[in-house]
Amino acid sequence: MKSSLAARLIPWQREYGRHDLPWQVADPYYVWLSEVMLQQTQVATVIPYFLRFIERFPDVASLAAAAPDDVLAAWSGLGYYSRARNLHRAAQEVMDRFAGVFPSSPDELAQLPGVGRSTAAAIAAFSFGANAAILDGNVKRVLTRWAGISGWPSEKAVENRLWQLAESLLPTGNVDAYTQGLMDLGSLVCTRSKPNCKACPLTADCVALATGQQKLLPTPKPRKALPERHTVLLLIRQADGRILLERRPPTGIWGGLWSLPEAADTLSAAALCQRLFGFDVDFDPAGADFVHVFTHFRLTITPLSGRIHQAGNLADSHTGWFGLAEARALGLPAPVRRLLDIAQ
Ligand code: ADE
Repeated sequence: MKSSLAARLIPWQREYGRHDLPWQVADPYYVWLSEVMLQQTQVATVIPYFLRFIERFPDVASLAAAAPDDVLAAWSGLGYYSRARNLHRAAQEVMDRFAGVFPSSPDELAQLPGVGRSTAAAIAAFSFGANAAILDGNVKRVLTRWAGISGWPSEKAVENRLWQLAESLLPTGNVDAYTQGLMDLGSLVCTRSKPNCKACPLTADCVALATGQQKLLPTPKPRKALPERHTVLLLIRQADGRILLERRPPTGIWGGLWSLPEAADTLSAAALCQRLFGFDVDFDPAGADFVHVFTHFRLTITPLSGRIHQAGNLADSHTGWFGLAEARALGLPAPVRRLLDIAQ
């Protein structure tokens, strides 16, 4: 039988994890300060800031009593300055609401400004040995891979599942080594790109490793909806079947390719034909609307087809009538090629 995740992680942390970070002491002020600094910042960056900060503000009382500008100055360079403002307010709350003594329960810690559920659990585990689960970005990566959980980890349903899993994996003792082990595994071994699976204590039952999904998990954040645009592509054919194509300007979308004449809507399609031929063309739908996705927008294309009997004098280097086979030999945008395929 495989030993539990914790039974493998704790000895691994003791042998290979980090043990001499300046905040690895059972002082909730140091632990809280470091956890807030580490929320969006790497360990190597945080260390010198942390050391300067505790020299300037050695305890929660001195921080609470400081002028806001002095706190910001000590934070300066770490970025995300709302963290510094919350830190200052939290120090004042510890003084006012808790008589200068950090509360030991994760729930009370989580009421402090700037302290979320995971940070509260880390502070409680490191400072007071509380059996509380953490779930920061590194831990989400470890758990989604180990358990093979897909879906963006910060999406509510996925996150709830991960919290449940994190709670269920908690050991009955050594929660500090266990918690540090999860953090260390995430930042030293189970890294975002190129995880070092050979060095991992969890390979025996890691779903991502077994199924080759290390690169796919955690599932990335869904991309923002792209802006929508619309165009009408005109498939204008002469009686002999030749099709009117226009060469696009060299820059911009489909730069330099041959494409169908474009219009904003059916009205401007009629105006375009008046300009080109001197008469109206009756257009019919040439199939259903379809969507073509560019990197920066989604283009919904309405294809219309119309037949004309006399073309007038159109030929120039940017415009031409082409038979289907001839047209297919040109450089065509994918949606135009698709329309020519269904047009025959
Ligand atoms: N990231 C967040 N908390 C950390 C900690 N205690 N040690 C290392 N990395 C961390």
